[in-house]
Amino acid sequence: MTSFAAAGRSALGSFHPFLRLERLLRDHPAGDHGLPGVKGPIQLQVGDPKNAPPAFLQECLQKNAAGWGSYPPPRGTADYREAAADWLTNRFALPANFIDPDRNILPVPGTREGLFFTIMMAIPGPGEGEKRKVLLPSPFFHVYAGATAAAGGEPVFVPARAETGFMPDYAALPKEVLEKAALAILCSPSNPQGAIADAAQMRDVITLARQHDFLAIFDECYSEIYLDQPPLGALQSAAEFGSLDNLVVFHSLSKRSSAPGLRCGFVAGDARWIDRVDGAMRFGGAGVPLPALAAGASLWRDEVHVERNRDYYRESFVMAERLLGNRLGYRRPGGGFFLWLDVGDGEAATVKLWKEAGIRVLPGAYMSAEDERGDNPGAPYIRVALVYDAAFNEAALRLLLDTLEV
Ligand SMILES: Cc1ncc(COP(=O)(O)O)c(C=O)c1O
Repeated sequence: MTSFAAAGRSALGSFHPFLRLERLLRDHPAGDHGLPGVKGPIQLQVGDPKNAPPAFLQECLQKNAAGWGSYPPPRGTADYREAAADWLTNRFALPANFIDPDRNILPVPGTREGLFFTIMMAIPGPGEGEKRKVLLPSPFFHVYAGATAAAGGEPVFVPARAETGFMPDYAALPKEVLEKAALAILCSPSNPQGAIADAAQMRDVITLARQHDFLAIFDECYSEIYLDQPPLGALQSAAEFGSLDNLVVFHSLSKRSSAPGLRCGFVAGDARWIDRVDGAMRFGGAGVPLPALAAGASLWRDEVHVERNRDYYRESFVMAERLLGNRLGYRRPGGGFFLWLDVGDGEAATVKLWKEAGIRVLPGAYMSAEDERGDNPGAPYIRVALVYDAAFNEAALRLLLDTLEV
């Protein structure tokens, strides 16, 4: 298989991690897990929240049902933008008026679509310049690389291994690479490792973006799923600098409020980039429907259900810590809901778990890319999503460990 970097647009599908997983397992029948009351295989590969969203979400959608009859307004509603700006200001202790809801916020139907459009818009088109490099962490959320390939950008995969705290060290890249960069992405808490960028790492990316005139994209969609301390946000660093220049930050209700089906989030930051992304989304974006905007605003204004959601995941991590100790390279993640386990050969372990126990996990190699030496930093790992309740997760994790004989 050619490397991800060389794939280009025509090969997008062949690099999608879940399609690759399907290909890996399709010729093998699922083993019997033997867990009572569980029909079908145990799906630990996908980060699909299973905790119910709060009941008032449904009530709010119903109350605003008349809005289904209208096209979603491109910039959303003033009420939604204000709810998002107020949430950011409180959550990240930003100075009053640092975020202007009308200029610095754009609602997006989940961060995935917003990320895709933003990456597309940041990569120069034909005749628009040569700054085509896209600085990505490896491992990465596949949408970053997919959008890069779709827009004809040149991905530069920067390993995010244990030695660098599972964060990419963009500052260590050669000057010639930084000068050709169209954008850089930092995901914190990161998917899959659950690592959190510290203030210096955030500041470094912002400083590099301004020095070399590229866009810094911060994907913070897991910022509310944490075990101990609330993760820092890039907007805190931006506030220290006193400006939003060259950066945008993504947030979503998918994980925070267990509402991935609502397709509701926002991008916040540099007004020039907000306008540019808005301009593109008016052509091809789905927009966020009016009832979802109303429900979304009420979710951003409530923290009670978010606290409950955090408790739900925390219970599973306490359990995982008890079962794993320091086996398989386990360390307490700062945030998110994944285990990133070093099993030696992630692909082989995935096949074994499927064939012997009907457990589906994701090989780490499918979320990362080979470096120039042909080394894939995700290859030794599997990603295990802890999205079910703690009792189910415990039974599944025990079975996983027994099957791998660790
Ligand atoms: C790192 C990361 N970013 C973005 C997303 C997209 O989430 P959504 O579009 O539901 O906000 C996901 C979803 O799994 C993710 O893991």
